[in-house]
Amino acid sequence: MTDTLTIALSKGRIFDETLPLLAAAGIVPAEDPETSRKLIIDTNHPHIRVVIVRASDVPTYVQYGAADFGIAGKDVLVEHGGSGLYQPLDLKIACCRMMVAVRQGFDYAAVSQPGCRLRIATKYVHTAREHFANKGVHVDIIKLYGSMELAPLVGLSDAIVDLVSTGNTLKANHLEAVEHICDVSSRLIVNKAALKLKYAAIQPIIEAFAAAAEQ
Ligand code: ATP
Ligand code: PRP
Repeated sequence: MTDTLTIALSKGRIFDETLPLLAAAGIVPAEDPETSRKLIIDTNHPHIRVVIVRASDVPTYVQYGAADFGIAGKDVLVEHGGSGLYQPLDLKIACCRMMVAVRQGFDYAAVSQPGCRLRIATKYVHTAREHFANKGVHVDIIKLYGSMELAPLVGLSDAIVDLVSTGNTLKANHLEAVEHICDVSSRLIVNKAALKLKYAAIQPIIEAFAAAAEQ
């Protein structure tokens, strides 16, 4: 009997950058989630399907086995904690950096000394908490779900912790990056039980992704 495989992906950059990896494994989604409203997308394989979920929900679907594997950014995985997930591959897609940023001209060095107290707006609560704990800086974290760049401009926070790629969003909002927390790229994540039970179906896909990611 052929195992059915479910792949969890978010639409946008992860879906777009995963298409070549899927193609390397001989998998072609039947529809584009940008134009289709469907959340379950068939592929050219009758036993392989893609489910479209929010980027931050991908680890949850894989953790609980609702998807056998998926692709998620390191930013999302750090916040999730990685429980129940096997992370065999850095796919080197959706690359960016987790940074601390402030208003241009703000004297961050003066207010980020050990013992200081800072107000940080971010979607990445765990990452931010750990970063400032390591520096010995006390933080009040304000959880946001997007448009973090607005927070220092309207006095909601002293600084933000967010992803930076080209730096265009920071520049357009008169902010500057002042600290690099970590590099971010996306990982293949596999449900631990599925890896054992569906090994014959999953292993060739992991190998094809690994070879494609190395190119
Ligand atoms: P959610 O929909 O769950 O709020 P999101 O809006 O962050 O998540 P995307 O914008 O599709 O989702 O980002 C998916 C992943 O791509 C992120 O988790 C991160 O790893 C990476 N990423 C985010 N922003 C950038 C960027 N500007 N350049 C490159 N990669 C990025
Ligand atoms: C991400 C991130 C920054 C922006 C940085 O947002 O939250 O706002 O990219 O990229 P840049 O340095 O190239 O300008 P995204 O485009 O994913 O939008 P969203 O998270 O608000 O949906």
